[in-house]
Amino acid sequence: MRFIWKRKLPRRRRLLCFTLLAILIYIFYQIVISFNDENIEFDRQWTCEELKARDRLAELCKDFINGNTGGNLCHDLCTSGELVVQDCLAHKNTTVVFSGTWRRNDVVFKTKRRPHHVEKLEDLLSIGVSDDEPTAGDEKLFKNFVLRVFEHVQNELSFFRLKDILNISEQRVLEVLWHPHPLGELTWADMSSLWLLIQRDEFIKLQLLKEMRHIPRVYGFCGSFYAVEKVETLEEFSFTPFKRPMPWKKRLNAALNFLDLSEEFTKTPLGQLHHCDIQPGNFGVAKDKRVVALDIDSVFATKQMEDFLEQPTCESNKQCDFFDCMSACNTTEHKCSRKILTNNLQIICRDILLSHWGQPGLLQRAPIHAQNKLSPVLSDCASDTMLPWKPGKIERIYRKLKKILSEELESN
Ligand SMILES: Nc1ncnc2c1ncn2[C@@H]1O[C@H](COP(=O)(O)OP(=O)(O)O)[C@@H](O)[C@H]1O
Ligand SMILES: [Mg+2]
Repeated sequence: MRFIWKRKLPRRRRLLCFTLLAILIYIFYQIVISFNDENIEFDRQWTCEELKARDRLAELCKDFINGNTGGNLCHDLCTSGELVVQDCLAHKNTTVVFSGTWRRNDVVFKTKRRPHHVEKLEDLLSIGVSDDEPTAGDEKLFKNFVLRVFEHVQNELSFFRLKDILNISEQRVLEVLWHPHPLGELTWADMSSLWLLIQRDEFIKLQLLKEMRHIPRVYGFCGSFYAVEKVETLEEFSFTPFKRPMPWKKRLNAALNFLDLSEEFTKTPLGQLHHCDIQPGNFGVAKDKRVVALDIDSVFATKQMEDFLEQPTCESNKQCDFFDCMSACNTTEHKCSRKILTNNLQIICRDILLSHWGQPGLLQRAPIHAQNKLSPVLSDCASDTMLPWKPGKIERIYRKLKKILSEELESN
């Protein structure tokens, strides 16, 4: 009897101890999670319900039917059903993204935060309250609109000679913004919606850079939403202890495409472009395997970048960072220098090919022979020291990486 009692007690105790331990771990886990949640409240993902995403679409079509909203995709979205919106994908408090299809193309239909101050188009075109509702076909009004749009695009991009740079007329800028639809007669709703849309400069840049291989295609807009080619985001390439990496060949292809992208960005219709928000969520792989920069809010031409960098006062270099783009602090003048220290290839190596915030990068977990060849070049490329790179270093690193990756691709 005594023997049985002695054997039973430790087992019960053990069970009790395990249960208590499990409860303690659970409580500890919950505390850590809630602590993190508080910290990331600002940057957290919002649900589509919180953002009333579906209601916004319903509102869009209601406004279109009432003649208050326009755009070259409103008819397809609200009347003919050629633009079909399906799932609500990503949602920060600033962005709403839906997936969908438009005439057999997979698209995302997205909108971004509206700027705080927007000058009303009525005021700009000097249309008084007593005037009649502006009508389509008013040639003077339309000409004035074309001019205002041109000036706005020019100011947004800090280009003061847009005509010389792009060799493009005022009317042509409007045609480019209206692309891929032919520019017919615009209604007042079309004009005012386009005016609001171009206050978000991502749409302008997407359209002006539409010939580029590594920029996603735009299919048009309705109100403040625009439809863009849907791609597989690079976040889907990330792997964890529970998720296998993508096949090596697919990762090699994407890495080679990133090299190509870094080269294309040095020579674009807007001159050299600096990408200051290089992270997996902002790039994707299209159906034809092109890597595209799907979020180009933080892509700037050199002049605009220099203007941004110069603005703040500073005590140390850290204060001169503009997201991923860095400049140095002139501590005597307490001013950030206009000179950009970083370059796209360096940030791509650091945050895409190697790793991003602890997430493994595209070229991590490579086959051992490839890893041996890649490691020294990648760590040289990704290093934050020795910035800016000496002349010729970009080309040298680009060539070395391209050679290793192409050879790998051929042998796989
Ligand atoms: N063209 C696209 N194809 C696939 N997913 C996209 C596309 N555009 C945006 N997304 C998804 O929506 C997210 C947010 O869009 P993004 O343009 O990066 O907005 P934000 O400026 O808020 O970061 C992206 O990280 C991506 O997951
Ligand atoms: Mg983004």
